[in-house]
Amino acid sequence: MADIGVGLLGLGNVGSGVIKVLEDNAKAIGARLGAELQIRAVAVRDVDKERLVDIDPALLTTEIEDVIARDDVDIVCELIGGTDDARVWMQRAIEHKKHVVTANKALLAEHGEELFAAAEEHGVDIYYEAAVCGGVPVIRTLREGLASDRITEFHGIVNGTSNFILTTMANTGQDFAEVLADAQARGYAEADPTLDVGGMDAAHKLAILIMLCFGTGVDVGEIYVEGIDTLEPADFRFARQFGYVIKPMAIARETEAGIEARVHPTMIPANWMLADVPGAKNALFVHSYALGASMYYGAGAGMMPTAMSVVSDLIEVARNIRAGVAGSLPLRSYHALAHRPVVPIETLRGRYYVRFSVLDRPGVLGRITTILGEHHISIAQVVQELADDSDSPARIVVLTQEIGEGAIQAALARVGAMPEMTEPARVVRAIGAARSR
Ligand code: NAP
Ligand code: HSE
Repeated sequence: MADIGVGLLGLGNVGSGVIKVLEDNAKAIGARLGAELQIRAVAVRDVDKERLVDIDPALLTTEIEDVIARDDVDIVCELIGGTDDARVWMQRAIEHKKHVVTANKALLAEHGEELFAAAEEHGVDIYYEAAVCGGVPVIRTLREGLASDRITEFHGIVNGTSNFILTTMANTGQDFAEVLADAQARGYAEADPTLDVGGMDAAHKLAILIMLCFGTGVDVGEIYVEGIDTLEPADFRFARQFGYVIKPMAIARETEAGIEARVHPTMIPANWMLADVPGAKNALFVHSYALGASMYYGAGAGMMPTAMSVVSDLIEVARNIRAGVAGSLPLRSYHALAHRPVVPIETLRGRYYVRFSVLDRPGVLGRITTILGEHHISIAQVVQELADDSDSPARIVVLTQEIGEGAIQAALARVGAMPEMTEPARVVRAIGAARSR
């Protein structure tokens, strides 16, 4: 049985999971591949650090170049994360004609063009199943399963940390900071958790999904991104009252003007399947011409689910090597990518949830609704919640009918100037029509 050599860069959450999956599932992997995947060396920052898995210390090194350059390494598995060092080392690996497996969505979203071009030039594979939705095989599904179909739009919960936080806040009433610490301890969050809660991790994944679904490269910087960190436990309560659930969504649609691409906390009807996606689970809901609606669901983050995807990629690349086709298959599901602009968020139409915090004074509700009316904003529902004492702010919560983003922004700028406002209004975009409870 000929071995395939793997050089591992990074032995953190995911890298440790890779070692564990390779050991625990060695028999099944060997039987499926007809060869063994052998870890030849592991690059880390600190060889003396305590590890999450048992590893032969002789395998550990801080010299990445040595790992990449080894003759007995066929595949470099990049699990160090980030876009600086990882970009350099992935380029070096490609130049050494090593195939690459990575889970690094930030790197592919921001520098994918150059890396895929280099891989084509040097005749090597880049596989990246774990980069989107962790353990859920969405990339393989989009590249192969739906290769004959025409995808028109998709909605996804693609950040496990944010979904874990919002699900827990909704279920327990705990506040944001408390739940984030729990998500970090469970190994879901990025080394820099602001990428998760600020929405950029989801934007990176969205850019990769847009490439796979529409054959279009988009500039990540053009994607509208809003984080989850300004939501309060009360928002989940009001949303429920209106028949909605708040989820961290990545949304994309092909339009004549360009690609609609946005990441923000979103109110979705409580009876949608996506509303039942709990904890760190991810789901992608795809609309395509021939299949219609389809949904892909599972663990979107964490050591073992993510490592499972990485090892599946190692197997796939090893199969390509054994079949003599490595480096010759299209890596992005399209032979050539188009480049289309992202349409500005101001052109969006939808329903909006708006929470105002105001001083409890006569006429405030009337003045707010008058301003909304002057901007042709029709109100579907309104709730007023007074504080126990009249000196504390009251909450006025409005759910609009379908309106333009420009109208709500203009109206909120005027409402924001009212002296009774105690803080900026909080807006959550809604999709789909819900029945209130
Ligand atoms: P992590 O726990 O922070 O581990 C990073 C590893 O890389 C550590 O072992 C670190 O070494 C090593 N490293 C970092 N910079 C290095 C450098 N310059 N030279 C050598 N080694 C270096 O990260 P992770 O959670 O495993 O994530 C790895 C990748 O998977 C990221 O791209 C992430 O976005 C992606 N991903 C993660 C998940 C998840 O659930 N965690 C899911 C999907 C995708 P030391 O241990 O010595 O410090
Ligand atoms: N930090 C990411 C998340 C890991 O929470 O979804 C999976 O990509």
